Amino acid sequence: MSKLQTKVAIDNSGVDPQTNFSLNPTFAAIVDSRMARRRFLKGSVGAAVAAFIGANLAGCSSSDDNDTQVPPVAGPALLGFTAVAAARPDGIIVPAGYTAKTFLPWGTPLTGTYPAFLADASNSGSEQEQQVGMHHDGMHFFPIDQRSGATDSAEGILVFNHEYIDNNLIHPNGIDTLPRIADQVRKEIAAHGVTVAHIQRQANGDWSLVANSPFNRRITGATPMEISGPVRGSNKVVTKYSPDGSRTRGTLNNCGNGFTPWGTYLTCEENWAGYFVNTDAEQPREHSRYGVSDDNGRYYWETATPSADGYQRFNASTVGASAEEDYRNEPNTFGWIVEIDPFNPDSVPQKRTALGRFGHEGIIFGKLEEGQPVVVYSGDDATFEYIYKFVSSAPYYKNTAGGHLLNDGILYVARFNDDGSGDWLPLDINNTDFMAKAAAAGVSFTDQADVLINTRLAADVAGATKMDRPEWGAVHPETGEVYFTLTNNSRRTEADVDAANPRADNRTGHIIRWNERDNQAATTFDWDIFLLAGDVGTATPGTELVLDADNHLASPDGLWFDANGLLWIQTDMSGSQQGEGPYGNNQMLVADPVTRQIKRFLVGPHDCEVTGITATPDMKTLFVNIQHPGDRSTPDNFTSHWPDGGSSRPRSATVIITKDDGGVIGS
Ligand code: FEO
Ligand code: CA
Ligand code: CA
Repeated sequence: MSKLQTKVAIDNSGVDPQTNFSLNPTFAAIVDSRMARRRFLKGSVGAAVAAFIGANLAGCSSSDDNDTQVPPVAGPALLGFTAVAAARPDGIIVPAGYTAKTFLPWGTPLTGTYPAFLADASNSGSEQEQQVGMHHDGMHFFPIDQRSGATDSAEGILVFNHEYIDNNLIHPNGIDTLPRIADQVRKEIAAHGVTVAHIQRQANGDWSLVANSPFNRRITGATPMEISGPVRGSNKVVTKYSPDGSRTRGTLNNCGNGFTPWGTYLTCEENWAGYFVNTDAEQPREHSRYGVSDDNGRYYWETATPSADGYQRFNASTVGASAEEDYRNEPNTFGWIVEIDPFNPDSVPQKRTALGRFGHEGIIFGKLEEGQPVVVYSGDDATFEYIYKFVSSAPYYKNTAGGHLLNDGILYVARFNDDGSGDWLPLDINNTDFMAKAAAAGVSFTDQADVLINTRLAADVAGATKMDRPEWGAVHPETGEVYFTLTNNSRRTEADVDAANPRADNRTGHIIRWNERDNQAATTFDWDIFLLAGDVGTATPGTELVLDADNHLASPDGLWFDANGLLWIQTDMSGSQQGEGPYGNNQMLVADPVTRQIKRFLVGPHDCEVTGITATPDMKTLFVNIQHPGDRSTPDNFTSHWPDGGSSRPRSATVIITKDDGGVIGS
């Protein structure tokens, strides 16, 4: 096997492809944001949020019949900690009075001992299948009594994503040979996916993996999965692996996450398109609109030999392919939300196709009401892509709720009007307005499966608002108010700024928020901009907020409301913004959504991204993920040695944060 160091060019810039070249209208005028703000406050929601926060500051707890949310936690004043300064440590900085400890880094064996992580990254493919994956991302803690109260704060199942891999760190010499070595590809596929880990707090307060627990499980880029919802059985997902279009293998590029009211985990397939290649002169729309590569898969998996495990499935080209080599539909089985039951190790993950196919960053449930539809929100994280909302056909009842609610409903896409109002536009084969727009655009859809497989195209046709890369969403636990991060978009020009994306060359991003007009399932909403990110002195028009040294930030990404109604914001700066800019390393901040008081709570190690956050029900243990520390490393020069120190290879890991006085996190 020849060394092909120079030939194996891994393109990590492709994680943010622009494939939206539709001509959707943009609004040249920047709205007077005070007007948007006025509309936003018209209802009683602003007051309700203020009352909720006030109650918590007073140490009261309020009743809440929403079973996904635990009651607010009593404790000392929130945001009472001293903000952490922006910095470039090769470690974790948290406020005085808090402690951060590393947990479950890449390579940790799920048996507790075997197969041990090898510091030179020489673990095999089969070993990686029994170890925690690489590049931790979205995460959720399920109390062990999830199905009977969800109050246990000392034992539970921690489930977390593995978004991608570091080509220079996953093997002793990185990815350096073509064609790819089959066992290396096996390892790389196994390092993707999801880890399910049964964990327990010990008497001394430390957390540990419950070794050999039957709940411990790896779900990877090769795990058999079911296709459920309207796309199940479509001829566009018929493959040799599944001639009836009901199954597929694996989940890839699992970025943000969600969790359901019925105690299951949702993982989001984001930049899956780059793992596939289709060299045909003309790609079908279900490939081209998503950026399926036209030269090689991201890690050249399609070249692996021998390929008893079918790695050629990553080559979806048809020209010159024999019937045996025809994998044209493999990419169509990716781009979905996948539901995983962490409490049933034998359960088959379900790809919930009714929620649409795009670069799913994360997924978040709207506020639940007994007898009302289930509502979920999901952003498509690529330049100029959209924000979506799904409303179930069947109503939610706590006692009968389950994954079936995600199989049938209406998928909508957001249009943010420049007057501060918004509309949810249905992407529905049975909606005459939608089909008329499609016809006018010269686009045809044969059935709802066709609409969903081509969700981006359907949203183009509907006239959705092109956003500055929608990342995570968060829903206020009491009010149902929805927040979304828009991480950045340097490609937006002065000619195409609009009210919801008001800055050209938007390198630092912003956070938008809205309230549904009538109820969570409404088709109209009122929005405003919560925060314009940027350097010290950056103001958010129409508000009192001016960023200072305690809270300047760029590229907001992860977003989460805790049980007390505080909004946690995680950043994903890359390149010079992180290496040389004024912001230091990637970080996590926490905000009061009413007063807009914001404080920096955590700074991460060199070249990392801070992403993924969850807590125990008592809010006394916070779990945060540190992804790709040292991601500018080469096989012989590591730019971080976190978390093991010395000259060690950097490893993604979870961080457990507690307050030294045993108090509530964020106080
Ligand atoms: Fe996985 Fe949008 O970052
Ligand atoms: Ca992200
Ligand atoms: Ca990001």
